Amino acid sequence: MKENIKKIAVLTSGGDSPGMNASIRSVARTCAYHNIDCVGIYRGYEGMIEGDFKSLTARNVKGIINKGGTVLKSARSEAFRTKEGREKAYKNLINEHVDALVTIGGDGTFNGAYTFNKEFNFPVIGIPGTIDNDIYGTSHTLGYDTALNTVVDAIDKIRDTASSHNRLFFVEVMGRDVGHIALNVGIGAGAEEILIPEEDLGLDRLVESLRRSKKSGKSSSIVVVAEGDKIGKNVFELKDYVDENMTDYDVRVSVLGHMQRGGPPSCFDRVLASRMGVKAVESLLDGKSNYMVGLLNNKMELTPFEQAIKGKSKINKELLRVSDIMSI
Ligand code: F6P
Repeated sequence: MKENIKKIAVLTSGGDSPGMNASIRSVARTCAYHNIDCVGIYRGYEGMIEGDFKSLTARNVKGIINKGGTVLKSARSEAFRTKEGREKAYKNLINEHVDALVTIGGDGTFNGAYTFNKEFNFPVIGIPGTIDNDIYGTSHTLGYDTALNTVVDAIDKIRDTASSHNRLFFVEVMGRDVGHIALNVGIGAGAEEILIPEEDLGLDRLVESLRRSKKSGKSSSIVVVAEGDKIGKNVFELKDYVDENMTDYDVRVSVLGHMQRGGPPSCFDRVLASRMGVKAVESLLDGKSNYMVGLLNNKMELTPFEQAIKGKSKINKELLRVSDIMSI
C-alpha cells in the first residue's frame, strides 16, 4: 500500500448514468475502510477548476446506492481542455491536500484524466460510467444494464399501441457511436429490424425487409434505431421514406431520449459500481495510475487509459444473427 496517499478525490463527468452514485459511495467507503480521507468534487472538471469540493465520509454517502443521476453533479468542461484550466485544477487539488483522483465518466472524461496525468504526474484511476457501453476494456459500463431494462420496458409499452392500431413504429434509442443498446433491446423487445451505426442496411433493404414481414402475416412492427445509425439523416427521414414507399403502413416515430439515462440503477449496476469503486481506490493505494477499471470475464481488470480511449468497443456479431433469425 502507498503510504503517501492520504486523501483521494472523486468526480463524475460527462453524461450521467445510473450507478454513478453507487460508485461514489463505494469510493468513499473504501477510503474509510483504509483510513484515508475522501473528498467529492462537484460538476466534474468544472468543480476541480473552481475548487468546489466537499468531504465524503462513510456516513454522508448513505441513501444514494439506489438513486439515479449523480449527487456530485456532472458537466462537460470546456475549460479543462485548456492548459490554463488544468493548471488551476491542479493547484486546487494540491491546496486541498488531495493525493490521487478517481474519475467516473466516459471517453471524454478519460481523455481529460490522461492529459492531466501526463502534465502533472498526478495519480488517476477511471471508472467507466455511460449508458452507451462504448468503452474499450470493459464488457459493461455503469448504467448500461439499467438503460437496457428501461428501454425494453418502454418498447413493450409502445408495442401495445403498435399492435392495437396495426402500426409501424421507429423507436430511436441512445447510442451516439455504437449500437449496443439498440441491438440488445431490439432482441429483448422482439423488434423486427434493428438499425445500428456498425451495419449499413440501406433504405431499400429496410423497405424490402418490412414488406417481407407484412407478407408473412405481421400486422405491426417495431424498428429500433440507434441514434448514431447512418441510414438517412435521422429517424424522421426514415419515417418519411417508409411512408412514401409503403403506403399500406401507418408509421409513427418515438424518440425515447433522456428518460433512458435516468432512474434507479439495476442490481447489476449497483454491484458493478461497488466492485469498481473498491478496485479503483485499492489500485491507487497499490501505486497504480493512468488506468481504467473494467469488468472482463467477470473479473475486475485494469486497462491503460490510452488503450481505453483509442480502442473500440465492438458489438457482438452473434447477436446480429440471433436478431435476424428471431425476426423471421
Ligand atoms: O453518451 C451518453 C449519451 O446519452 C449519448 O447516448 C447521447 O448521444 C448523449 O449522451 C446526449 O448527451 P447530452 O445529454 O449532453 O445531450
